[in-house]
This record gives sequence, C-alpha cells and structure tokens, in this order.
Amino acid sequence: MALQHPFTQRLIAWQKVAGRHDLPWQNTRDPYRIWLSEIMLQQTQVSTVIPYYQRFLSSFPDVLALAAAPIEAVIEHWAGLGYYARARNLHRCAQQIASRYAGRFPPNPEQLAELPGIGRSTAAAIAAFAFGQRAAILDGNVKRVLCRNFGVEGFPGAKAVERELWALAENLLPDTGIEAYTQGLMDLGATLCTRSRPRCGYCPMAADCVACRDGRQGELPVARPKAAIPQRSSRFVLISDGHRLLLERRPPSGLWGGLLVPPEGEPEAILARLGLRLRHSRELAPLKHVFTHFRLMLLPTLCEVTSSATAGEPNMEWVDLDKAADAGVPTPIKQLIRQVASAAD
Ligand code: ADE
Repeated sequence: MALQHPFTQRLIAWQKVAGRHDLPWQNTRDPYRIWLSEIMLQQTQVSTVIPYYQRFLSSFPDVLALAAAPIEAVIEHWAGLGYYARARNLHRCAQQIASRYAGRFPPNPEQLAELPGIGRSTAAAIAAFAFGQRAAILDGNVKRVLCRNFGVEGFPGAKAVERELWALAENLLPDTGIEAYTQGLMDLGATLCTRSRPRCGYCPMAADCVACRDGRQGELPVARPKAAIPQRSSRFVLISDGHRLLLERRPPSGLWGGLLVPPEGEPEAILARLGLRLRHSRELAPLKHVFTHFRLMLLPTLCEVTSSATAGEPNMEWVDLDKAADAGVPTPIKQLIRQVASAAD
C-alpha cells in the first residue's frame, strides 16, 4: 500500500473523532438517499435541507416512486429550497435510472456524471458514499480547504487553477477509507475551514497549512477577479465671467441627479447655445473619478466669457466662484471648481 499523504491520514483520523456522523443521509449505502441528499445540499445548507429531505423521502421512498411521480408533486416538495432546475433534473434523473438502469444507480462516477443534475463532484460523492469508490470530490468548500492548505494561488474558478485542484484532489485520495475521507473534507470545510474566521486552533492540518502558517486565511482562496469596469470620458465646461461660475442643475434621475454641475459637452456648442461670447479658454488638468460601475475621466475646459446673459435656460445658475465648490456639487466637480477658484485668486 502506498504511503498516504499526511493530509489524508490526518483528515481521516479527525473525521472519525470530530466529524459529523449522524446526518440523516449518513449510515446508509442506499444510493437513492445519498443522491437525494447531495442534490439538495448543492446550494443549500444542512439545517435547511434536513426537513425537506425527510418529507421528500416519506413521499418518494425510492427512485422508482420518484420516477413515477408527476413533476408537479416533485416541485411541490421542493418549494422553498430554491434553484428549481435541481428538482426538474432530479425527476429526469430518476426517470433515466428507471428506464436505462432498471432502477439501480450505476456505481461508477463516470456513468453517474452523465445523468441530469449530477456533476463531476456530486458523482464522486455518490460513488464514494454509496459504493465505496475511490473518487475525488471538489465543491466550493473543498476548493477552499485545498487552496488554503496547499497554498494554491489563483482564482479557483479559473480553468487552469481548477485543473490543478482536481489533480491535487485525485492525488490525495486514500487507498482505503474513502467514505471517512470524503465526509472529512466536507466536515472540515463546513465546521473549521469556513470562509470567514476559520477555526485554525482546532484544525488537525494547521501545522502544515500554508494559509495558516503565513496568516493568509483571508487571501486564500483568491477571490474572483473583479470585472474590468468600463471607462468613459466627458468634457465639462467651466464658464466664468471672472467672479462667477455657470452651473447647470441636473435632472432628478440619472448620474448626479438634482446636483449642480458645469455644462457637459463641447465648449463651442455650449457657448453658442447660451449666447455667450468667449474671451479666453484653456484646458485644465483631467481628473479621474471612479464610480461603482464605471470610471469617468473628466476633461475640464475653462472658458472666460465677456457677457453673462443666459437667455431662457431655467436650469442654469450663476454661482459665486468662492461659493460654487460648496453649492451642492458632486465630489469630482468640487475639485475642478477649486482649481478654477484658486487660479482666479
Ligand atoms: N454537503 C454536501 N454533501 C454533504 C454531506 N454528505 N454531508 C454534509 N454536508 C454535505
């Protein structure tokens, strides 16, 4: 027998003394019961699943009963668990097991993974718990445990990182005791190696865990990379008559709704529309501002004008230069106004 990885040995020993042993889907080899629990537990936590699981089993005690039931009855038993595609796949899967496999679950993870709603990790869990097959699971909790323990860098949802994690998961499999090992991985992820505030003081792996050793529990697994936020740029025209600034009240909804902002657009067009005559203009330093969903590069042009008549523009206001920055303007605009005010001093 090959020497087992210390991780594997410790996990099995820990599961036996500190793991969970009395969940309703444990202490059985019935693949139907195990399959049902694994599907329910895919997106839902143990405490929520338990009452649903029991009610489901009393109405549909075996896979043939489930296959014969109308889909409406299945959905009704699922109501409240969410992710209803799981219920539809569950029903389809039961029907395929009835028709293709004469009501008996196939024991191989590869065959199980071809059935509706059963991915690679769920197939491995069913194969391990029901048939004692040596197959690796890799759900979100297991990814977290492996990334932390072995210091796996990169977002675990990325294809290359995921491949690395599957290889690691396969390499760690025990020669015997797959049930305790598989349950141990689940138990460790659910009870000690939790996403936030892991309880490393109780963890049997802490001595060899990269994240624990380096204090990187909060950094591993690496978070999903933030989607690049789009960048926009827009020109703002700071129109000054020497001691006042012309600001425009924005419509109530939309960006900067209801706030005072210098007119946005091309200077020539804006001055022409407002009937203002240009004395002098110059570009000011661009300013970057980050919103939740985009970055805005503000391109300011300062235009000094000779007249201050603004015919028929009720949403335009002349505001004293020394008051404009505090006149209810958005933060980046405040900075632009300060540039103008200090230049005018
Ligand atoms: N989550 C997924 N499978 C589980 C299992 N068998 N026991 C506890 N939690 C689980």
